[in-house]
Amino acid sequence: MNIILLGPPGAGKGTQARKLVDEHGMVQLSTGDMLRDARNSGTKMGRVVADVMDRGALVTDEIVIGLIAERLEREPESVVFIFDGFPRTLAQADALGDLLDRMGRTLGVVIEIAVDDEALVARISGRFTCEGCGEVYHDTIKPPVKDGICEECGSTEFSRRADDNEESLRVRLLAYYKQTSPLIGYYHAKHLLKSVDGMADMDTVSAEISRILAEA
Ligand code: AP5
Repeated sequence: MNIILLGPPGAGKGTQARKLVDEHGMVQLSTGDMLRDARNSGTKMGRVVADVMDRGALVTDEIVIGLIAERLEREPESVVFIFDGFPRTLAQADALGDLLDRMGRTLGVVIEIAVDDEALVARISGRFTCEGCGEVYHDTIKPPVKDGICEECGSTEFSRRADDNEESLRVRLLAYYKQTSPLIGYYHAKHLLKSVDGMADMDTVSAEISRILAEA
């Protein structure tokens, strides 16, 4: 049963997706990570998306749907996907539905992680990521147990995202409310939507998601 994690920037989609990978053996498909890989690869497409991402705007549906389609076609039928940050527009949601239908795959549940705007600003401005394994930390909410050393892989290299600044976050939030939040109604109408309180601590959110998956 494939699932979508839906929520504004900093809601905890990536954090929860990684927990689902560890605990349920699912495969995380993050369009944000795919696009960051593309920009780091230095391709023409990477150069096009870099500017858009840094501003906090959405990359075109055509590019994002192409990335997802290519990835879905590569994976064996048995793989169960967590879509993290995709779909983000109604056109992307329609395209995902068509892709899954064509491949004989189903969408089991769409989980909305709801978080207040003020909390999002605090989460985004304190976030940093391990360069070795991609584990996500936070200056105050989730610092590594040993200062400067990743708990997962022992790396001492960390980075902060170029779009994790106040100006970009304002654009990202606007894009969420304008282009992505209509998906809440879209999936509600398809009887696929469940909501969790993303203001709770990470383990509580994770337990709630596991409960939803067990009942789905
Ligand atoms: P993307 O990488 O998807 O970023 P985003 O949606 O803005 O979400 P984030 O990764 O910032 O947040 P998250 O919800 O994963 O939170 P996290 O778990 O890290 O997209 C980046 C850009 O790529 C977009 O702006 C766009 O340009 C482009 N893009 C991507 N997909 C696209 C698409 N489909 N179409 C078009 N363009 C696309 O948590 C955040 C912090 O909070 C962490 O420090 C974490 O430790 C902490 N935290 C997590 N959970 C909790 C909790 N419960 N309590 C307290 N702290 C918590």
